[in-house]
Amino acid sequence: SGYLAATSEQGTSAVPQASAEQTITILYGSQTGNGRGVASELAEKAQAQGYAVNLVSMGDYKARQLKQETLLLLVVSTHGEGDAPDDAIELHKFLSSKRAPKLDNLNYSVLALGDSSYEFFCQTGKDFDARLAALGATSISPLIECDVDYEELAAAWQESVLEAVKPLITSAGASVVSIGSTASSATSSFTKQKPYTAELLVSQKLTGRDSDRDVRHVEIELGESGISYQAGDALGVWFTNSEQLVNELLESLSLNGDEQVALGSDNLSLRDALINKKELTQLYPGLVTGWAELSQSKVLLEISNDKARVREYVNNNQVADLVRQHPAKVTAEQLVGLLRGITPRLYSIASSQAEVESEVHLTVALVEDERDGVARFGGASQFLASAEEGQQVQVYLEPNNHFRLPENPETPVIMVGPGTGVAPFRAFMQQRSAEGIEGNAWLIFGNPHFEQDFLYQTEWQQYLQSGELSRIDLAFSRDQEHKVYVQHKIAEQGEALWQWLESGAHFYVCGDAERMAKDVHQALLDVVVKFGGKTTEQAEEYLETLRAAKRYQKDVY
Ligand code: 2AM
Repeated sequence: SGYLAATSEQGTSAVPQASAEQTITILYGSQTGNGRGVASELAEKAQAQGYAVNLVSMGDYKARQLKQETLLLLVVSTHGEGDAPDDAIELHKFLSSKRAPKLDNLNYSVLALGDSSYEFFCQTGKDFDARLAALGATSISPLIECDVDYEELAAAWQESVLEAVKPLITSAGASVVSIGSTASSATSSFTKQKPYTAELLVSQKLTGRDSDRDVRHVEIELGESGISYQAGDALGVWFTNSEQLVNELLESLSLNGDEQVALGSDNLSLRDALINKKELTQLYPGLVTGWAELSQSKVLLEISNDKARVREYVNNNQVADLVRQHPAKVTAEQLVGLLRGITPRLYSIASSQAEVESEVHLTVALVEDERDGVARFGGASQFLASAEEGQQVQVYLEPNNHFRLPENPETPVIMVGPGTGVAPFRAFMQQRSAEGIEGNAWLIFGNPHFEQDFLYQTEWQQYLQSGELSRIDLAFSRDQEHKVYVQHKIAEQGEALWQWLESGAHFYVCGDAERMAKDVHQALLDVVVKFGGKTTEQAEEYLETLRAAKRYQKDVY
């Protein structure tokens, strides 16, 4: 993008340097890149209006700088159960602590990103807004809470804050914009909104024929896109809904797919809108309550009155289930108006370009379920699982600076990745192998059955044989009476693990956020207590220090 770094060189050149008071500081806290995207857009717009802008990741922002700010615009997302994104944790904590200063001279506004199917919707954004107000800062534009399809509200917020800024600040006449040291070296001109049309090379099943899971190894050719990624990054994948699902929906609603509907400034057929533009495989609370009104279904109206039940319904059903269970008469326009726009899915990249060059590999679990005897699939995973060789796929790179190999390649790495969580560790190992790094790598993997579900088995065995992987611990949960999970392996190998940590190892976790990552955290904590001779509190501090030193990194979903 067209940012000029505000280096000292430019400061002394003909470009007038805005004084600190005239700078708009835009901070973002972003886990999956959406927050960063909205913040950079705002920076560009402000720059175009002649303001001096400082765009910084919260992770790179020095909290003591706050007292000097006069104008602060924040974009921050929320994850899981109201958690702040990694790069926002520090600042979030600081603002709630006794160390936080009075901020009487500060004008601010917060844009909160979130997912309304979670209980603590936009919690981190709400916290920032409340804390800044409590510290005496003045809100120049009310907090806006955005759902997954945030684009429209985010644009409205950008417009509103830029309007509110006008009387407060004189434009510098020149646009001096600095971005903190956040830019990834992995850059590309393709974005979520402007993806690259890539070619799918391979989509093959990794799990055995008797497995309960269908996990795919997917290879995509990035061709001349110029997209370059690092181990740890994710790939955003756009998908289309299955025709079968769309037909089912049209049939249940007695709607004609050829009917024309308006979508923004476009006119297209209802079928086209449902296949390409609308989210069908993930419900959201607003749709459930809206549908309750339309259908006047007693059951659904009752569910609608209870937020927890709405969330449960949203998590266990799809649009097609909703309309079949609770019939309502809607027009094509009404339906399209109620449905959210389709959003791409992010997959942790399972390859390193040092090994696969212009390809990118993914490890994709087909999300499948059955409701009332009907098979239901995840949108993107079904698209990728049923894609044919040579098919086009729209993709973009989503850098993840919070999941990186150690700077020093000799630093030991412990990698905990059950299920598809193993993906980035395949990338890590390919990268380390290409760099000729031996040993100091420990993989802890888990899945239901050794025979059916040992993803990339032969590759790990080769790395073990060559000495590039020092050890592997396996938790095949269903090969014995009792469940054995990766956290049990951590407990079992506690002493060795403690020694690795004490010798400077980085600890990585990838996979399920809801239970696995928490259980692994607890197991790790127990190891630090037991072998580090610490109290629980001290062990928490120890892990917090690791996290702050980027030695404890998570990529969980
Ligand atoms: P299960 O399905 O047999 O219970 C990848 O999905 C692997 O993670 C599976 O072996 C799965 O076991 C296991 N798993 C399920 N819940 C888990 C948890 N809370 N912690 C760790 N692993 C878990």
